[in-house]
Amino acid sequence: MLWYKSPPEPSPSDNSRARRPAPRDASGEDRPSAMLRVSRRVASSCESATLALTARVQELRRQGVDVVGFGAGEPDFPTPEPVKRAGVAAIESNFTKYTHSSGMPELREGIAKRFLADYGLTYDPSQIIVSCGAKQAIYNALATLCDDGDEVLIPAPYWVSYPDMVRLVGGVPVVVPTSPERGFKATIDDLERATTPRTRILVLNSPGNPTGAVYSAAELKPIGAWLAENRIAVISDDIYGSLVYGGRSFASVAAVVPETIPLAVLVNGASKAYAMTGWRIGWAAGPKEIVAAMARVQGQTTSNPSSVAQKAALAAVTGDQKAMIEPMRAEFDRRRRVMTARLNAIPGIRCHEPEGAFYCFPEISELFSRTAPDGARIGNADRFAEAALEGARVALLSGAPFGAPHHLRLSYATSLGEIERGLDRLESFVRSLR
Ligand SMILES: Cc1ncc(COP(=O)(O)O)c(C=O)c1O
Repeated sequence: MLWYKSPPEPSPSDNSRARRPAPRDASGEDRPSAMLRVSRRVASSCESATLALTARVQELRRQGVDVVGFGAGEPDFPTPEPVKRAGVAAIESNFTKYTHSSGMPELREGIAKRFLADYGLTYDPSQIIVSCGAKQAIYNALATLCDDGDEVLIPAPYWVSYPDMVRLVGGVPVVVPTSPERGFKATIDDLERATTPRTRILVLNSPGNPTGAVYSAAELKPIGAWLAENRIAVISDDIYGSLVYGGRSFASVAAVVPETIPLAVLVNGASKAYAMTGWRIGWAAGPKEIVAAMARVQGQTTSNPSSVAQKAALAAVTGDQKAMIEPMRAEFDRRRRVMTARLNAIPGIRCHEPEGAFYCFPEISELFSRTAPDGARIGNADRFAEAALEGARVALLSGAPFGAPHHLRLSYATSLGEIERGLDRLESFVRSLR
């Protein structure tokens, strides 16, 4: 049985809310509860595929099964020492109360300095909000900018959470296909084709999860001009901004096309750059009135992110960036090259070289007509991922929940030894297919 089923891909003509199953009651049975009904908005959202895989791998490991995990969406490095110490010091000095709901003023100042150093953009601390991860910052931005029925352009392949977040705030996710030949990067022609009078927002993610695609300044320029001309807002998810390879540099649309600054909410955070996923600190910068409205969403839902984690994040954003980030980036770069080469050496798998983040995103459609040793036909990427877990004890994700049903996502946020071990297994598994 499939342990995870990809959701239907959203599209302009197919607002999948209408096709979602009826709400379930607490027994998990397929009948609506007589007393409680899940709202249509929540019923229209799906379980996160990445979290489902993590839970499945944890369960197998608890049973003593040796699984090589390529599912991780987080650095396998520890949080840097000075950052940990700042967190401990915060606890020991009883810095354990509520803070300003948009985040401590010193932290917002520190983040403003990062925007200046990393983007060349000047934001006043009042234009910055600190949230419980970039995830909450994106949700706050969508809740603030999106009215019922507003369309949000999401270039595919996309991070799994975007379409569901859009549905949760009452918007309509509109998938914008991109092609591997153009490095999975949307062009204005792609965006134009998906645009209607209801289009309000573009979600742009570079470096991208799952593709590892990095938009250059030259590629962002026409997109920025198009956004400004059409007055379409942009949520720029820059969470992997410090993880770029091969001499490339990170660029953000607001820095490249200043006319987009009044239209842009820039999202970043501590999770990936400083290996701080569990601390749950992310942030956003944008026009003052938009950030103030985002602060109302946050103030009425979660209040401030953890005071202790904010102190740690302050040490991260004000500390020695090179010392904290470069060793991790350089190691990811090594692993990226090993994993890409190993994948391309497996017949039936083709993998472009990722430019950023920490994922390989190979194409595997040639394998769909094959049959596993147990006689089951591979058929699609969901089934390949399931068969790889059951047959080879390698955990990886189908591309389907990322809007790419011919691909797989493998994270290289694991040691080189594990990468070699997992790819040995994957290679024998693929070679065993008939
Ligand atoms: C593209 C992208 N955006 C945002 C996030 C959320 O990060 P955070 O841990 O800061 O909430 C992730 C996490 O995997 C991600 O991949």
